[in-house]
Amino acid sequence: MLNHPRSATTWGIDDSERLYGISDWGAGYFKLNAAGEVTVTAPVGSDEATVSLAEIIAGIEQRGHAMPVLLRIENLLDARLSQINEGFRTAIARSDYKGEYRGVFPVKVNQQCQVIEEIVKFGAPYQHGLEAGSKAELVLAMANLKHDGLLICNGYKDREFIDLGLWANKIGHRCFFVVESPAELEIILERSRVLAIRPLIGVRVKVSAKVGGLWTETSGDRSSFGLSTLQLLDVVEKLRQEGMLDTLQLLHCHLGSQIPHLDDIRAGVLEACRFYADLVALGAPLDHLDFGGGLAVDYSGCRAGEVHSCDYSLDDYCDAIVTGIRSVLDPRGLPHPHIVTESGRATVAYASMLLFNILDTHHFEAVALPEALPNAAHPLNRHLFALRDCATAPTLASCYRDAVATREKLRDLYRQGDISLQERAQGENLFLAVAQSIARHLDGLEDLPESLNGLRESLADIYYGNFSVFQSLPDTWAIGQVYPVLPLTRLTEPPSRDAIISDLTCDCDGKLDRFIIAGGERRTLPVHPLRTGEEYYLGVFLMGAYQETLGDLHNLFGDTHVVSVRLNSDGDFDIVREIGGDSIADVLSYVEYLPQQLYEALRSSAEESVRSERLTLAERQSLLKKFSESLNGYTYFGR
Ligand SMILES: Cc1ncc(COP(=O)(O)O)c(C=O)c1O
Repeated sequence: MLNHPRSATTWGIDDSERLYGISDWGAGYFKLNAAGEVTVTAPVGSDEATVSLAEIIAGIEQRGHAMPVLLRIENLLDARLSQINEGFRTAIARSDYKGEYRGVFPVKVNQQCQVIEEIVKFGAPYQHGLEAGSKAELVLAMANLKHDGLLICNGYKDREFIDLGLWANKIGHRCFFVVESPAELEIILERSRVLAIRPLIGVRVKVSAKVGGLWTETSGDRSSFGLSTLQLLDVVEKLRQEGMLDTLQLLHCHLGSQIPHLDDIRAGVLEACRFYADLVALGAPLDHLDFGGGLAVDYSGCRAGEVHSCDYSLDDYCDAIVTGIRSVLDPRGLPHPHIVTESGRATVAYASMLLFNILDTHHFEAVALPEALPNAAHPLNRHLFALRDCATAPTLASCYRDAVATREKLRDLYRQGDISLQERAQGENLFLAVAQSIARHLDGLEDLPESLNGLRESLADIYYGNFSVFQSLPDTWAIGQVYPVLPLTRLTEPPSRDAIISDLTCDCDGKLDRFIIAGGERRTLPVHPLRTGEEYYLGVFLMGAYQETLGDLHNLFGDTHVVSVRLNSDGDFDIVREIGGDSIADVLSYVEYLPQQLYEALRSSAEESVRSERLTLAERQSLLKKFSESLNGYTYFGR
């Protein structure tokens, strides 16, 4: 039985496009083709190419990689880097701004080697640099950067961190230490004396303008990072006394990540520019103004100032920064600084997507009811049977209340041992029949009574996806992040079922149950009924930022396979990298087991079983072969 009345006869790809909002969040990179498949479109030289994701999945599976797979489209990463740089170049030219744009990629947003290498390679003509927030990130950044892109060091730093950064300067990098606390300045000065290498220094200020969104605590007095105004003055004075004021060349502020409102950005820019102007007036030869991250990704496609969206475009963002700086510095006759931003999610989100198959489904539907209940049926079940017919519009809410209360009484009776399992099962089935009948009447109703709000969700299917939320999409669980999710094929057919997507972990939080559908947030995803013998694939889009290293090993589901693809101008694609996901032996070794010892332990119990005739020798061989194959196998599920 269909659980949603989307019409099979009139449904087309335009309907799917509207339902899943692809053109709203896809930024022109994701579309549907006439066969009802999701396609990816990316620039190739001065042209562009389009490939169906179903074709890419076929190519991946033919190369022996099972789902789930994290797919990276290299051209999309290049496209985003170029759009951000060109966006600033255009805004700079439009405003006749005299400084340059010097973007840096914050390594913490995606540290994966392939991503960093591509950013460094493609970003070289733009002098795109890297930002490091730890020693490990600095090590990879200073080894990877080969051009004169900036190397910005944020966060707390110890002696070793500072020594590394000073050496980076010695070999030609422009490595800035962004001073987060007065104590850090002492170490920088001491180490630069010891190594006889002059540092490049930035100061991070705490901007008081508050931004909305999930990271609002990043700015303001209580933010963990940055100097108070008093500390800022002390740092300038200390540098002056040490004869090092000339090294203070950068002012840094980070307003927050995923900032939803352009007005908040404008306010933060103005405040940062005031700090900049005042420090210059105190004699600091600043010439870089770094606004940190914050450029949002419109995950929901709603183009609204809510947490998963934003009310501005990339061009608006660039213009707000360039014109904001001019509005403060021009009246004071100050030269225009180089503009630095540390856009992380806006650079890498689009390029990665998680692809997985659905393994099974669970439907919450009543099994067929008889014409009438036998006289011996329990009176409460007879009552539920009668309620099926009273589910008409004016009485929907009271009918539902009655059904819920009756089911509760039946459950009570069962707990007390007063009704049989068969009677309880009949009651549960009748309740589902009543609820489904009410849900059918809700279609098309404008104002739902509050008590019926959750009814549809409670009847939604569960589709079991071959992935782990905790490994691949931790932000959906940790901070309620919403990503675009949709079926990758069959989009010429109406998605006649509504489902939540459960992952493989034995954890009730391991699910996706927030989706942007038809422009609004919903708890269920429209999907198609599964067909026997045919895989059904879903994709989670715009998830290239923060997810890969934040993911964990819950239930020992390891890293997925990662496949990188480059689209070609002939509409084909090359698989440029294949990185196998974790094997079971890998994840066991992460939690300190020695796979060889596990094998040995099993071998010895198999041997004992042979001695005690619980196993034949042939069975022993089969068992050990299976165990060994499993150790080397993927942690996700096959067929
Ligand atoms: C100092 C700093 N720079 C840059 C970023 C990246 O921010 P986003 O991903 O919003 O661009 C962050 C993230 O919070 C940050 O703390």
